[in-house]
Amino acid sequence: MHILILGSGGREHSLTWAVKQNPKCTKLSCAPGNAGIAKIAACIELNINDGQQVKEWCLKNNVDLVIIGPEEPLAYGVSDILKSANITTFAPSKAASKLESSKLFTKEICDSCQAPTAKYDYFNDQEKAMEFIKKSKFPIVVKADGLAAGKGVVIASEYLEAEEAITEMFGGYYGQAGAQVVIEEFMEGEEASLFVLCDGENLISFGGAQDHKRAYDGDNGPNTGGMGAYSPTPVLTKEIEKKAISKIIKPCLAEMRKRGIPYEGVLYAGLMIKDEEPKLVEFNTRFGDPECQVLMMRLGAQALDLILATCEKRLDNAKITWADDHAITIVMATQGYPIKYDKGSKISGLGTTIENSKQVIFHAGTKNHGKDIVASGGRVLNITTRASTLKEAQLRAYKIIESVDWKEGFYRNDIGWRAL
Ligand code: AMP
Ligand code: GLY
Repeated sequence: MHILILGSGGREHSLTWAVKQNPKCTKLSCAPGNAGIAKIAACIELNINDGQQVKEWCLKNNVDLVIIGPEEPLAYGVSDILKSANITTFAPSKAASKLESSKLFTKEICDSCQAPTAKYDYFNDQEKAMEFIKKSKFPIVVKADGLAAGKGVVIASEYLEAEEAITEMFGGYYGQAGAQVVIEEFMEGEEASLFVLCDGENLISFGGAQDHKRAYDGDNGPNTGGMGAYSPTPVLTKEIEKKAISKIIKPCLAEMRKRGIPYEGVLYAGLMIKDEEPKLVEFNTRFGDPECQVLMMRLGAQALDLILATCEKRLDNAKITWADDHAITIVMATQGYPIKYDKGSKISGLGTTIENSKQVIFHAGTKNHGKDIVASGGRVLNITTRASTLKEAQLRAYKIIESVDWKEGFYRNDIGWRAL
């Protein structure tokens, strides 16, 4: 099969790495990719949000399967365009990806099927939102309805912070994403990410992971796309996973089917767990980044079989074999991320790590510059390892970091702390 993966992050490098191990994959391309992906796949210059352009390239190059990594192409309807040209595509439709692209839509789906989530209200009007927060208890969570590259959520500990967030959102700071604002109750507890594959009818759990959203050690500093992850995560016990599937995921997917928008692809449920009860924080309609890296490290070649089972609506017969192991990924980011950072710094020492099924450096924002590899983004490398215990995986990952010579980079020293 000729497989095309869309995206350029650590998530897409790990997908490329896993898919490549499966003998069904005979040709592998990635658009646009990065310096790490370029070592194992052909990197193609394509505007991945332009469905027509991607479709034409696929038809010309006999692509058998497209795997869409990030959320933007979904919101642009790229999967609909590919599927209508009979190109097998692992991704939900534009309509179904509203579960990520509209927070209010997800809240309404939860309301319709009584899935547990935070109480909320929504506003199209700044003044009404301001009146609402005057009567609210704090902390409170203010969210831009639409896609805001992971930045449209403000946890306001007091009135002034909420007021500022509302003013920014209605003031166009997040573009159209902030034209509608959801204000919701702050949920306490521990967060975990649960992934399921859905083929429109059936679903199978694809495992759990825990992300580290804050930039600095001890969960301090600004929110980021994620500074590290590990899988499995002890907070997501079998019991809690079962509850999340039966009380949240299955009812929401049934509601989607009822509305004529069946969900196909991977669904990522961000959960808040307290007193053994999960509540939904949000859905994402794609793999998490960096959560995908630890799932791929644990699954390897199986990932492609499961992706194909999803696309071919065979999940009722699908099985996942999990090894009794633990994976961890540590993100190395450019100093200043997520606020303000420079691009173009040189990274050395990557060649000294022997990569195998138990340790890989997945690239995110990297590119080739002459003979050098340089940083081209905020999150840059994902040091990913697997071992029989989380502690062993963690020690090995931090050992590998010592061999990376990149003074403009930083990372958290405590990835995995909750489980350890
Ligand atoms: P979201 O983009 O909706 O996942 O929000 C980003 C982060 O904000 C989540 O991962 C949580 O850490 C936090 N968050 C969002 N909504 C809530 C809530 N209702 N209560 C507590 N924390 C929240
Ligand atoms: N790591 C969080 C996300 O991918 O949304």
